[in-house]
Order: sequence, then structure tokens, then C-alpha cells
Amino acid sequence: MKPVQDSEGALSLDPEGPRDENPEGQGSEEEDVIICRCEEVTKGEIVAAIRRGARTLGGIRRRTRAGMGLCQGSTCMPLVAQILAEETGIPLEKIEIPSARPPARPVKMEDMAR
Ligand code: FES
Repeated sequence: MKPVQDSEGALSLDPEGPRDENPEGQGSEEEDVIICRCEEVTKGEIVAAIRRGARTLGGIRRRTRAGMGLCQGSTCMPLVAQILAEETGIPLEKIEIPSARPPARPVKMEDMAR
């Protein structure tokens, strides 16, 4: 194996030479930032949802689960709205925050009567 040098000067012993660490533009440091901590949704996943056609926070929520966690989006929805505004050019003040849906589980009437 012959050492090869990549564009940043790092040496590699890979016989095929240095690999592009980000061949499809995915997985960059910025895209790996967690936006929704409850559901562990990254900025890259949110941007991908927007590029697949999501134009509302509800659409992003359905595609990625961002905003469906324990805090129901109180932490992440402002950030998701900012990303949506940046990606689409929609003014931030025109982006409607979806209603919170608290996690609920059906309870039988007989269980409530106890
Ligand atoms: S941080 Fe997104 S639902 Fe809590």
C-alpha cells in the first residue's frame, strides 16, 4: 500500500486512496445537529423532508416525528420553523405553529370508576 495524501494533507494507507467523506453531501457536521431532542431528529432529516415537499411544520412533523416528543415541540418547533423559513423563503411570521397533541392513551370507563 502506498500512502496517499488527501486535499487537506492527511495521509492515508487505503489502497484505493482517500475517500470523499461526504460523497452525497449528507452527514455534514451541521446536518448532524439534533434539532428535536425528544425524537432525536437532525437538521439534515428536516431539510430532507422540506426538499421532499414539506411546506408546513405539520408536514415536517409527520415526515420526521420532530415535535412529537414529550415536550410536544415546545423546544424544537421554533428551530424547525427557522429551518423551514431558510429553506423555502417563507417569512417566519407566516409559518403556523401546529397545535400540541399531548400523548394520550385510551382508558376504559371501568378503570376510571375504580
Ligand atoms: S424537542 Fe422536539 S418534541 Fe421535544
